[in-house]
Amino acid sequence: MSNPTNQPFLWGAATASYQIEGAVAEDGRAPSIWDTFSHTPHKIERSETGDIACDHYHRHTEDIQLMRDLGIQAYRFSISWSRILPEGTGKGNARGLDFYNRLVDDLLDAGIIPFPTLFHWDLPQTLQERGGFANRDITGWFSDYAVHTSQHLGDRVQHWIMLNEPSVFAFLGHAIGVHAPGLTDLKAFLATTHHLNLAQGAALHALRTNNPSWKLGTTLSVDRGMAADGSKASAIMAERHHDLWNGCFLAPLLSGAYPAGILPELEPYIQPGDLKSIRQPVDFLGVNHYTRSYIRAKPGALIGYEHVAPPPDVPQTSFGWEINPSEFRDVLLELHERYQCPPIYITENGAYFDDVVSADGKVHDENRVAFLDGYIQAMQEAGERGVDIRGYFAWSLLDNFEWAGGYRPTFGLVKVDFSTQKRVPKDSYFWYRDFIRQH
Ligand code: FCB
Repeated sequence: MSNPTNQPFLWGAATASYQIEGAVAEDGRAPSIWDTFSHTPHKIERSETGDIACDHYHRHTEDIQLMRDLGIQAYRFSISWSRILPEGTGKGNARGLDFYNRLVDDLLDAGIIPFPTLFHWDLPQTLQERGGFANRDITGWFSDYAVHTSQHLGDRVQHWIMLNEPSVFAFLGHAIGVHAPGLTDLKAFLATTHHLNLAQGAALHALRTNNPSWKLGTTLSVDRGMAADGSKASAIMAERHHDLWNGCFLAPLLSGAYPAGILPELEPYIQPGDLKSIRQPVDFLGVNHYTRSYIRAKPGALIGYEHVAPPPDVPQTSFGWEINPSEFRDVLLELHERYQCPPIYITENGAYFDDVVSADGKVHDENRVAFLDGYIQAMQEAGERGVDIRGYFAWSLLDNFEWAGGYRPTFGLVKVDFSTQKRVPKDSYFWYRDFIRQH
C-alpha cells in the first residue's frame, strides 16, 4: 500500500471507555451522560447499563494479554473524562488518572502502541448540566481536559485522537435522541455540530503548542447516504445526510469551510475567526466505517429525513447494516480525491453478528471472518490506488456495551460472558492473529 514514509503498517483493535471499563463509581469517577442515560428507563434494551460492562478497569492485565496473543501492534481506547476530571473542569483525580498510567505502561511493556481517544461520547454529567456541547464554553472545557490529560500521559503517548465520530454524537444524541444526552432539539443539534469542531480545534492547537512532536488527529465516521427510494426528495435528503454527517466535520477541518447547503443553518452559532480556529493541521485522520445509509425524505422530521433498512436482498449484518466492501474502498478514494487528506488510520471497522457458542464451547464466526477479510481487502485496494493508509483497528477487541443496544449486539473478536466475565476468543480472533503474522 502507498505509504511514503515506509513506516510499518499498524494492525490494531479498538474499544471505548464506557463500553468496557465498568467501575463507574470507583476511585473518584463521577457520572457521565452515559451513566445518566443508561439509568433512564426504556433508553437501553433490557435496561442494561455500563455499570460493570467488561470490568476492564479491573481486568486490563488479562485484556492486554489477549492483545499480546493476538499480535496487535497498536490499541485504540478512550479516556473517561469524568474519571480524570470528575467535575469536568478544574481539579484532577489522581486515582482515575492512575488507571490510564497503568494501562499505558502495560501496553508499552507489551510492545503495543497506545492510541487514546480523548472523547468517545461520555461527557461528564456536570458539564451536560451546563449545556454540554450546545454551550460554546465546551471549547475551553474540552481543551483544558485535553491539556491536562496529555500533560500526564504525553511522556509515553505519542498519538492523540481528539474526538470519536462527532457526527454520531451530534445526530444520535441531539437530533434523534437515541443516544446520550437524549435530546431531540434542532438548535442543540446544530450548535453541538459547530461546537464539536471548535472544541476539537482548540484542543489540537493547545496540544500542538505544548508538544510539536505528538501525532494529533481525530476520528470521523464516514458513511455516505443513498436514496432509499426513487423520489427526488429522497435524493436531495441523501445529499443532505452526506453534508451533515461527513461534510460538516471533514470540510471545516480539511478545507476550512462548511458545506454550502448547511452553512445558513449553522450561521447563528458561528463567530468571526471560528473557521480559522477549526482548521488546524492534523497528522492523521481516523476513519471509522461500517456501512452506507439508506435515506428517505420525511417532511416534518427534525432534519427532514430518516434512516431506513436496506432492501432485504442486500447482504447485511445482524444490525441490518449493509455489507458492501467496495463502498468502503470508494469512501477512501473519495476522501483522497476530494480533500488534501492527511495519512489515514482506519480507527474502527467490524461487524455485529449473532454469535453461537458451539458444542465445542467455541464461536465459529465465519461471517465475521468473511466481513473482515472483505473490508481489509477493500482497504488494501484503496491503498494500492494511492490512498495513504497507515493502520487498521478492528472494532472491537471485546464484546461490549453497544450503547442503546445494550449487550445484545456483539462486535468482539473475543466473546465475553457477562455473567462470569470469561473471555473466549472467537474464530475471527485467530483468523486476525494469523493474518497479522503474515503481513
Ligand atoms: C461506532 C462507535 C463504537 C461502536 C461501533 C459499533 O459508531 O464509535 O463505539 O459502537 O459504532
